Amino acid sequence: MNAITLTVNGRRVSAQVEPRTQLADFLREELNLTGTHLGCEQGVCGACTVLIDGKPQRSCIASAAACDGADIRTIEGFDGDVVMGELREAFSANHALQCGFCTPGMLMSSRDIVTRLGACSERTIREELSGNLCRCTGYVGIVNAVHSVACGKTARGGAVAVAPVEAVAEVAPAPSASASPSLALARSVAEGAAAPAGKEGWTALSQRVHIPAPPAQVWPALKDMNLLARCLPGAEVTAFDGKALQGRMVVKFGPIKAAFGGDATVDFDDAAQTGTVSGAGRDSGSGSQVKGEIAFALAPEGEGSALDVTLRYRIAGPLAQFSRGALVQNLVGHLAGVFAGNLSAQLSGAPMAEAPASLSVWQMLKAMLKGWFAGRKS
Ligand code: FES
Ligand code: FES
Repeated sequence: MNAITLTVNGRRVSAQVEPRTQLADFLREELNLTGTHLGCEQGVCGACTVLIDGKPQRSCIASAAACDGADIRTIEGFDGDVVMGELREAFSANHALQCGFCTPGMLMSSRDIVTRLGACSERTIREELSGNLCRCTGYVGIVNAVHSVACGKTARGGAVAVAPVEAVAEVAPAPSASASPSLALARSVAEGAAAPAGKEGWTALSQRVHIPAPPAQVWPALKDMNLLARCLPGAEVTAFDGKALQGRMVVKFGPIKAAFGGDATVDFDDAAQTGTVSGAGRDSGSGSQVKGEIAFALAPEGEGSALDVTLRYRIAGPLAQFSRGALVQNLVGHLAGVFAGNLSAQLSGAPMAEAPASLSVWQMLKAMLKGWFAGRKS
């Protein structure tokens, strides 16, 4: 059992949970907050969406133990919230619900759209809501409802009044709980940080990795796209003429397998030892689309090199919900570590760990947890 203390709708809650208890089950069964619905229980439908530290996340695939110390807000925690009140009225006025099963998750994501983006187009709303599935309405009423509230915000001249959650009240004495594995992992991923996105709806992450070889040896390797692809699990370059690149990236996330194929343009500045790769791709299976840009800069660091990478991207379609949150940041950090290890092996002539044919998010999570537990024992 794990001792956890978290804040739920402004109330401090302490409990003992099994390591495999998911947050949605904890909320529904231990706290009786049944407004969080469970549909697929595999991270696909969005019915279970809650705010974790202010960001919409799927509570069916977030372990309760990993949320130790987190601030959780469920659909029951928005009484008095102006935006949520307007959304509820707009959903009703636009016939945006029938059975209502998807509605709590829809409202959570919709409020995030309105408060984060403000006035935005119908197309943007459809993209942003693409991670929430509704089997009844056909989405038109939902999109119209969100659009009316988002535009109403602009008409009011800007600031959206967001009600604070009620004052924190101690529900049970809090045992001193140590940081959970996943939160500790989030903090320990090598120097990864969210970078300013700069473009509406884009996510930006920056990462620094150390490579134990001097820049003079690393830079030519960075320009060898086939070598780089061999260092990245799931990546494949199908064509590259020094500027235009075609390739694909295979990602497995639980039951979901996506193969993003696309084109990119590559620019190198040999003098500054910087470069950018920008492009777009599509997963034909799910219809999800990704646009992205990778900017990198190489510099000496001790006897080796520091590689600073900034990734900016936007995912639209059914996989869009996976593009935000600490999980992706952790995975990017882990992926950067795998890449740095493989590149170092390539440069030194040592055998490289066999690159799997696809990037398995679950395998990576398992490896991250294994590493964390190993570090804890030592
Ligand atoms: S129940 Fe969580 S995403 Fe479907
Ligand atoms: S209203 Fe029934 S699933 Fe959306």
